[in-house]
Amino acid sequence: MEKFLSKIIISKKQINTRLQELAALIDQDYHQKESFVMVGLLKGCNPFFIDLLKKIKVEPIISYMSVCSYEETHSTGQLTIKLDLDVKVQDAHILLVDDIIDTGLTLKSIKNLLLQRGAREVKTCVLLAKNVHRDIQADYVGFPIENEFVIGYGLDYNQKYRNLAFIGVYNPNYEA
Ligand code: IMP
Ligand code: MG
Repeated sequence: MEKFLSKIIISKKQINTRLQELAALIDQDYHQKESFVMVGLLKGCNPFFIDLLKKIKVEPIISYMSVCSYEETHSTGQLTIKLDLDVKVQDAHILLVDDIIDTGLTLKSIKNLLLQRGAREVKTCVLLAKNVHRDIQADYVGFPIENEFVIGYGLDYNQKYRNLAFIGVYNPNYEA
């Protein structure tokens, strides 16, 4: 195994199977909802958002936002918007898609913002949910995971490793 990994926790095949299940749930929940907008949170959502989108049969409008709250491996607790939506959210049914929910600050803040802007409904979808105490839960979760710093399939450590096809735990003793 690569030195920057301490273990692999979710394989490419497991991701693919789970995405099929999530897509089926989303199809079921959204097929009768008008104005369905899928909003991906860059950059972490990238592979997850695209792979999920390809498996969904209902037809969403897609858009992206970019926010950040993380420095290296810890949350700073403050959220900055770096890129905003290019679509109207008034009366829309929004599905916010991100790679992972940790403290929930990111999803909670953006959800509130979109509701303030007039969205009819905002649901959240993440590939991974960390096992920590928080006051917001995601509506769709790919995999619950332990409270460890993970990389791969969109998730980075200092902007690296997003291209891995699987999810692994970052080796804290690794010196690049
Ligand atoms: P939250 O606001 O604390 O829920 O953090 C969510 C954001 O932090 C995600 O969009 C990720 O970009 C980042 N993040 C949280 N945990 C990890 C991790 O284990 N690896 C990489 N990024 C993470
Ligand atoms: Mg992120």
